[in-house]
Amino acid sequence: MAAGWFYLSCVALGAMGSLCVLFTTYWMRHWRGGFAWDGSLLTFNWHPVLMVAGMVVLYGAASLVYRLPQSWLGPKLPWKLLHAALHLLAFILTVLGLVAVFYFHNTGKIANLYSLHSWLGITAVFLFACQWCLGFSVFLLPWASAWLRALLKPIHVFFGASILSLAMASVISGINEKLFFSLKNGTQSYKELPSEAVFANCTGMLVVAFGLLVLYILLASSWKRPEPGNLTDRQPLLHDRA
Ligand code: HEM
Repeated sequence: MAAGWFYLSCVALGAMGSLCVLFTTYWMRHWRGGFAWDGSLLTFNWHPVLMVAGMVVLYGAASLVYRLPQSWLGPKLPWKLLHAALHLLAFILTVLGLVAVFYFHNTGKIANLYSLHSWLGITAVFLFACQWCLGFSVFLLPWASAWLRALLKPIHVFFGASILSLAMASVISGINEKLFFSLKNGTQSYKELPSEAVFANCTGMLVVAFGLLVLYILLASSWKRPEPGNLTDRQPLLHDRA
């Protein structure tokens, strides 16, 4: 039964994550003119797509690698490598997303880092970079003792969840800000709820639902790799498969 719920959650996560990226792309293509890489407003349009794909969807998937029951038995190293590699890919998409918005701002001589959205966002990206470097040096390089790893693990999990929460807050504030900017001079204002606003609001709600499901699986569920010597205790997925 527990295994059934787990795999159902995985399917829901995959579907919701894909929809988050598809919806953001469709918003930028259909209502905001599509994409370019020349410093124009069309360069900006890469920013939301790459941030949602990198800092929410791929980041969320990478965080859940150890929740797969396949990762609980046998050597941990390949799963650690997968976890680090997926997070690195998420970080590369994130940096590209930031380059897009800074390129657009600098070309148009628009001030950088003035909004609450940008402060939240840059804090999330900074913590993400620190988390990756610390995680790589302590959990992947062979020098750290088991004692140090055990000490840092709960802190690593706490910051992992905090960074995802900050990314969700950044997405929501970014969507809001973009709608205020773009619908200010248009034919319809935000408060008249034109179709673009309905669509972008739904995209934001979907990102929140995706993020909350990731946080539930990560923190609250019992779908966790058993500690050594405690293989059968509190591990409903392993019980189910036995
Ligand atoms: C995790 C997700 C996100 C992060 C970390 C993030 C981060 C940032 C940062 C650091 C800036 C400042 C760039 C500069 O000052 O040159 C910025 C700008 C901007 N972002 Fe995002 N962003 C995210 C998602 C989004 C999304 C989904 C949208 C929705 C369209 C968006 C809309 C904007 C807008 C309109 C600006 C320009 C105005 C401003 O500087 O606040 N962002 N973002």
